[in-house]
Formats: sequence, structure tokens, C-alpha cells
Amino acid sequence: MNMQFAGDLPKGIQKITDLPNDELGDLWDSIIVNDDLKTQLLSQAVLNFTARPKVSRAVLPLHGVILLVGPPGTGKTSLAKGLAHRTSNSFSGGKFRLVEVEAHGLTSSAMGKTQRAVADLFAQTVAELATSGPTIVLLDEVETLAVDRSKLSLDANPVDIHRATDAVLVQLDLLAESHPNLLFVATSNFPEAVDSAFISRCDLVANIPLPDAEACRKILEDCLVGLAATYPKIGDLIRQPKFANTAAAFVDLDGRTIRKTVANALASDTQTALKPETITLDHLTSAAKAARSNRNLKGGK
Ligand SMILES: Nc1ncnc2c1ncn2[C@@H]1O[C@H](COP(=O)(O)OP(=O)(O)O)[C@@H](O)[C@H]1O
Ligand SMILES: [Mg+2]
Repeated sequence: MNMQFAGDLPKGIQKITDLPNDELGDLWDSIIVNDDLKTQLLSQAVLNFTARPKVSRAVLPLHGVILLVGPPGTGKTSLAKGLAHRTSNSFSGGKFRLVEVEAHGLTSSAMGKTQRAVADLFAQTVAELATSGPTIVLLDEVETLAVDRSKLSLDANPVDIHRATDAVLVQLDLLAESHPNLLFVATSNFPEAVDSAFISRCDLVANIPLPDAEACRKILEDCLVGLAATYPKIGDLIRQPKFANTAAAFVDLDGRTIRKTVANALASDTQTALKPETITLDHLTSAAKAARSNRNLKGGK
């Protein structure tokens, strides 16, 4: 971490991480999505630090914003952090940093202060960080910061929120002009709630889908292989003929739910929880069925 921020972090910042960082690399690798999607994200992020500082904005109107949208639990936050690592890794010797903004903290500040807090965060803190080296800023769940004003009714929502969104847009424009070595990576579970003026500033909007059948199987396998590091017998499950049927029971679940469902299966009964290596494919299949019916209860498709 930069010395100037040793100790207390500036208001609105959750974490600052020096890059590259292998843990973030592991996070990137752990998310199973189409390789083309990962390549597209990485290429757009890299271009931000190659062409953007050198080419006039009149030619390439880049803002330095990538937005990842998709259902909850599909790996957006993990990909955004991993992308920061992979981007820095693409440049030798560049001292990149990942700055995680705490959107909820900003918007919960006292009424009338959100706009000021947002403006200070971007104009002072982020700008200062970007002056000291290439900086990637994570705006996780950006709908809390850039709310779609057209969908808010003025009397139901504090004017404060409108002003905060305005402040974000103004600051993005200013920073895009003055700090080309800055990249924002934003995520949203609810793209319809994100202000359209924010979306139009994005250089890339990438849809992160629910895993398809093949990806579900891979996520399940990855999870079981991970467990096998502690409980070697669990690795045998993948080689059983009925494994394909078990994997099929996980289709339609998001990546986070798939991994949580494996944990539920380990907790099928107290005996299995005491000896996790005794988990069976039947335990997994039942847990997956339960997860799918829970999801239906929650109103999922
Ligand atoms: N496509 C995926 N492949 C593998 N694991 C996934 C995938 N999507 C989600 N996960 C798991 O779910 C966890 C939560 O993912 P996260 O990045 O927080 O999702 P989101 O931000 O979209 O809600 C991750 O730590 C990861 O283990
Ligand atoms: Mg997330």
C-alpha cells in the first residue's frame, strides 16, 4: 500500500491493493466463463492503458469504464478484481493499484452530504491515486452510486440521490479527460437500475451470464477437486459413471449457489458433516434439487 494511505483509508475507500496480486489471479482463474469473454475483458482493459493516454478523445472517446452486468452469483465481482490483476500483469514494471470503493458507505452518509462525499472521493482521492500510478477502481454494485434517475420518482426518493448520480457523471467526465491511466470496473446485478447516462459512458458493457450446462459441470468439478486437496476420496466422485447425472442436477444454478450447494451436501446429515469424505453423489444430487426448488421459491426463472 502507498505510504500516504498507510493506516486509515480515505473515506469511501474500502481497500487498496498493490498489483499484481496472485490471490486475485486465483480468483480470475476460479471463475468459469467462456474464454472469449475473459479475453474481451482483458483486451479492453489493456487498451485503456495503451491507446487511451496517447490518442485524442476526439478520435477515440474512451471514458475508462468497463461495466459487468448479470444475475447475482455469476462471478462479476471476482472477475472485476481478477481483471485488475491480469491487466497489471500484462505490463512489465507498471506499478498498478486496485482501489475498492465502498458505495454503500458513501450513500448512507447524512442527507445532503452524498453528493459532496462522491465529489471528494473522485476529485481528490481517486485523482490523487491515479496521479501516482496506473489505477483500477472497482465500483461494485454501481447501481447504488449511479441510480437511474428516470426510474426514480422525485417524491419517493431523496433529491440527494439524484445529485449523487450527477456528481458521479461529472467526475467521470473530468477524470476521463485528466487521468487516462485510470480504469473503472463497475458491476451491477440490476442493469435496469443503473443510470443510462452512466451506461452510455461505458467503453464496454459485458454480460456475465448464468453458467451453461458445461460450465455448471466444470464449476462442480472445480469445487470437488478443491475439496479433494483436504479429503482425497472426494476426488473419486468425479470419476464415477453417474457423475454426469449429478452435474445435470446443478444446471440453472449460478456459480455461487453451485458452490454453496456442495457445502449443503457436505452437511446432508451430521454423520457426513463429521466425516466430509463420506459424501456421495446422491447427497450432491439431492442438495442440487433442493437448491433448484428454493430458487423457484425466490422467484428465479
Ligand atoms: N462462473 C463461475 N465459475 C466458478 N465459480 C463461480 C462462478 N460464478 C460465481 N462463482 C462463485 O461464486 C462466488 C461469488 O461470486 P461473485 O464474484 O461474488 O459473484 P457476483 O459478483 O456476480 O455476485 C465466487 O467466489 C465463486 O466461487
Ligand atoms: Mg458482486
